[in-house]
Amino acid sequence: MLKIGMIGAGFVASFHERALRSVRNAELAGIYALKGAEMLAQRARQSRLGDTKVYDSVAELVKAVDVVCVFAPNFARVDMMRQIAAAVEDGTRIKGIIVEKPLARNFAEADTLARIAKAMGVPTAYFENQIHMPAIVQARAQLAQVEKAMGAAHLARSAEEHGGPHEPWFWDPTTQGGGVCCDMGCHSIACGMYMVTPAGKPVDYLKPLRVNATMALLKWCKEPWLGQLKDRGVDYSQIPAEDYSSVAIEFEDPQTRQHSIVQATNSWMYDAPGLRLLMETFGPGYSYTVNSLQSPAGLFISDAAATAVIDSELALEKSQATRGSLILQPDEAGLYGYVAEWLDALTAFEQGRDALLNLEYGRLITLLIMAAYMSHERRKVIDLTDPATLRDLETYVPLIQKGEGKQVL
Ligand SMILES: NC(=O)c1ccc[n+]([C@@H]2O[C@H](COP(=O)([O-])OP(=O)(O)OC[C@H]3O[C@@H](n4cnc5c(N)ncnc54)[C@H](O)[C@@H]3O)[C@@H](O)[C@H]2O)c1
Repeated sequence: MLKIGMIGAGFVASFHERALRSVRNAELAGIYALKGAEMLAQRARQSRLGDTKVYDSVAELVKAVDVVCVFAPNFARVDMMRQIAAAVEDGTRIKGIIVEKPLARNFAEADTLARIAKAMGVPTAYFENQIHMPAIVQARAQLAQVEKAMGAAHLARSAEEHGGPHEPWFWDPTTQGGGVCCDMGCHSIACGMYMVTPAGKPVDYLKPLRVNATMALLKWCKEPWLGQLKDRGVDYSQIPAEDYSSVAIEFEDPQTRQHSIVQATNSWMYDAPGLRLLMETFGPGYSYTVNSLQSPAGLFISDAAATAVIDSELALEKSQATRGSLILQPDEAGLYGYVAEWLDALTAFEQGRDALLNLEYGRLITLLIMAAYMSHERRKVIDLTDPATLRDLETYVPLIQKGEGKQVL
C-alpha cells in the first residue's frame, strides 16, 4: 500500500482525491497546504482513502509518506522541490515524486525541478492527464494494426477551452507563467505530440523542428469582464495575459524522416456549456476524434428551479451555467485520464522507475511552450534545430510572464 502525500489542497488536489477512490494499493496518508488541507483530509477519510492527516510543513509530510505530489501553484514549484530535496537529504526515503502540469513557468525553472529530482535519485511522474484519457488510449489500441499497415498519424489537432480559471493566481501571468497557452497549451501540445508519435516509440521520440504561434487577448480586456477581473485583484489593462493561443508545431520522425504537424488551440473565452476537450488525429487512411462534451447523459434545469443550484462547478468542471440544458459527465476523473495517470505512476514507483511521463518530459513540453511564446513575441517561426535558438530558450522568460504583455497583446 503506497502512502500518498499531497502538497496543495485546491481544485486539482480535490480532483485527485476523487480519482484515488478508483485506485487500489494507495492510501491518501497526508496533506500539507496553506489553505483547504483539513477539509480535503476530512473528505478523504470519509471516502475511506485512509487515515488522512494534515501536516504543518513539507518536511513533516515527506517523512510520513512514500509518494509526494506537488499540487501547489506554478510559482511555488521550485521552492516546494527544494524543500522535498532537503527532507530527502535529511535521510527520509521516498519512492516517487509527482508534479502537476505545467511543470514550471519557464524552461530555467523546469530544468531546475528536473535536475533536483534527478540528483535525489527518486523516480518521477509529470502529471499530464490528457495523454492517459481512456478515449485516446483506446482509439490508439483499436487502430494499432491499421497504423502498422498504413503508417503513423501525420496531423493532430488538440484543443482545450473553458471560460477562464477559478483562482486569481492563474490569471496573473507573473505567478502562473502566462495566460491560456502556459495553463492549457501544455495539455494540448503534449496530447497533440503524443497523438502523432508512432505506436511503441518513446513519448519524446519525435524531433520538434519548428514552432509558429499566435496569441491574443480578445475577451478579458473588455467590460464587464475586465472589471470582474479587477474586482479579483487582476488588472488586464496593466498586466495582461493571452486568452487565446494557437500553436503549430512541425515534427520529424528521426528514422523515417516523415513530417507531422500538431495544431494546439486554447482559449479562456469558451462561452458555451462546460469544458471542451476536442482532439482529432489523421493518419494515412484513418482518423479518430474525441469530444469530451459528447456524453450519453444530459440534464435540464428550468429558470424556476435554477435558484436551487448553488455551485455550478459541482456539476461539471468549469461549467458557466446553472440552468437550461446542461452537460452531464458521470465520471470526469476517469474521462480526463486522472485515474489512469495514477495507475501508471504508482505501478512505476512500485517497480522503482519513472512513470510514462517523467519530469524530463515535462521539461521538453516547457521548451515547446516557451518556443510558442517566443514565436508570438517575435512574430516569426522558431527554428528548434538552430543551436543558438535552443540556447536562447534556456534562459528565455516571455514578456507576458514578466508582466510586460502590453507590448505584445
Ligand atoms: N491536470 C489538470 O487538468 C489540472 C487542473 C487544474 C489544475 N492543475 C494544476 O494543478 C496546480 C494547482 O492548481 P489548483 O487549481 O489546484 O490551484 P488552487 O489555487 O485551487 O489550489 C492550490 C493549493 O495549493 C496551496 N498552496 C499555495 N501556495 C502554497 C505553498 N507555498 N505551500 C503550500 N501550499 C500552497 C493552496 O493553499 C491550495 O490548497 C496548478 O499547477 C495547475 O496548473 C491541473
